[in-house]
Amino acid sequence: MVDKALGSGGRKSDKDLKIRVKSAKGRKVSSTIWLERQLNDPYVARARAEGLRSRAAFKIREMDEKHKLFRRGMRVVDLGAAPGGWSQIAATATGSTEKNPLVVGIDYLEMDPIPGVTLLQKDFTDDDAPAMLIEAMGGKKADLVMSDMAWPTTGHRPTDHLRIVHLIEVAADFALDVLAPNGSFVAKVFQGGTEHQLLAMLKRHFRSTHHAKPRSSRADSAEAYLIAKGFKGQRESADEDEEQ
Ligand SMILES: C[S@@+](CC[C@H](N)C(=O)[O-])C[C@H]1O[C@@H](n2cnc3c(N)ncnc32)[C@H](O)[C@@H]1O
Repeated sequence: MVDKALGSGGRKSDKDLKIRVKSAKGRKVSSTIWLERQLNDPYVARARAEGLRSRAAFKIREMDEKHKLFRRGMRVVDLGAAPGGWSQIAATATGSTEKNPLVVGIDYLEMDPIPGVTLLQKDFTDDDAPAMLIEAMGGKKADLVMSDMAWPTTGHRPTDHLRIVHLIEVAADFALDVLAPNGSFVAKVFQGGTEHQLLAMLKRHFRSTHHAKPRSSRADSAEAYLIAKGFKGQRESADEDEEQ
């Protein structure tokens, strides 16, 4: 049940305009808090108004405004694409069309089609996923690999941390294999330790690296983004990085 709480005397203040969600029988407290947050989130409302599938779309848009990630005609791979906000932004920015698709997205969740985006429903960590992505790009190199992937958390912090680190490493490894010289890599990271190793590896292969915490990323979330630009060119072998 949703109601707009009115202040005393019937006058609305900004605080009073907040939509409050009454707890309901059978709904967990955490679900009620989530629902209330969604209903009061300006990015959720803006995403809906602009026909974007996720509030996350604003994160990549903000990062693009600052770091100039997209240009027309470039090829983009979107890892962890569902429900599709980043792919929508990428398709528009690159001028990707159904006739000449420039954006490939992958997610193990099913997604509704997006014009100009080739979508694969698959776990990116499957051994054959990289080859399938390369095939979907017509064997061509990518100019931008972006990853917003995150596993659902288990609640067991060490396990969650290891799983997330693994996901980021696989994404970075893939980027080093498929990027064209001067390409870029953007990945969601979570504050906590092993990010330093990833950063060191990216610094070796890219001309510049940056941290980003877009305004549209919730302040109370540990998520942040790593942006690496100016790929120096394909490495000889993945072993180089393991030895470092
Ligand atoms: C935060 S959402 C991405 C939102 C997306 N950027 C957007 O704008 O709509 C993270 C996504 O990563 C996906 N994901 C996580 N691990 C994955 C994996 N191993 N393979 C494929 N997708 C994965 C999840 O299914 C989820 O849809």
